[in-house]
Amino acid sequence: MSLLAIIGGSGFSGLSSLAVTESRSVDTPYGETSAPVARGRLGDSEVLFLPRHGASHHLPPHRINYRANLWALKHCGAERVVALAAVGGITERFGPAVLSVPDQIVDYTYGREHTLYDGTAGGVEHIDVTEPYCGALRQSLIRACEQVGCEVVAGGTYGATQGPRLETAAEIRRYERDGCDMVGMTGMPEAALARELGLCYASFAFVVNWAAGKSGTVITMKEIEDNVTLCSERILQILLALAACR
Ligand code: HPA
Repeated sequence: MSLLAIIGGSGFSGLSSLAVTESRSVDTPYGETSAPVARGRLGDSEVLFLPRHGASHHLPPHRINYRANLWALKHCGAERVVALAAVGGITERFGPAVLSVPDQIVDYTYGREHTLYDGTAGGVEHIDVTEPYCGALRQSLIRACEQVGCEVVAGGTYGATQGPRLETAAEIRRYERDGCDMVGMTGMPEAALARELGLCYASFAFVVNWAAGKSGTVITMKEIEDNVTLCSERILQILLALAACR
């Protein structure tokens, strides 16, 4: 079966259950990756792992070299990529500690290197992203959740915001009118670049706070960290099940 790569997000600078066998700094045409690409065993399965914010979580969302990261994973042999994503919940079903496998994206980011087809090499390409995530990998993730008995919202629209600040309440109301169920800061251009590279990519989102204006209180780092902790055990179990299912 095809090699699985996991991109770690906030709360996942490492994967505690990954037995790392190799750590490789990859030279890419786009510059440096967030960290060396780790190869190791998750249960009985070989996987790759890359923390998108860096090993010490030093890269804010707009400074991540998404092109280098995705290119490096492909270069190391990845065919499938699961991207962990801490998000703020907007609509009712996406309260804190909910797990989700989103199926759509609205991109509000700007000023990021967002394509491999930037006119400097090769021709102009317009890739299709009608369905921005890989359907087969989404289904595998949903099945893995069922296997370990974890509830998951199978769908939802991810609004990709620029960050690193959180949103205003009015911005969140606007994103809700646009159809977004959750907001995060890293879902784009990661998903589009994965598609440009022909990688089968899906997001595994976990809600760490109600988005701005949705709870009547301000959002604190403590709340976010507590919800990361609440979700992380389930996420590790699900990743183990996913890696094992070939
Ligand atoms: N907004 C944007 N990104 C996020 C949030 C949020 O509320 N929570 C976690 N990532």
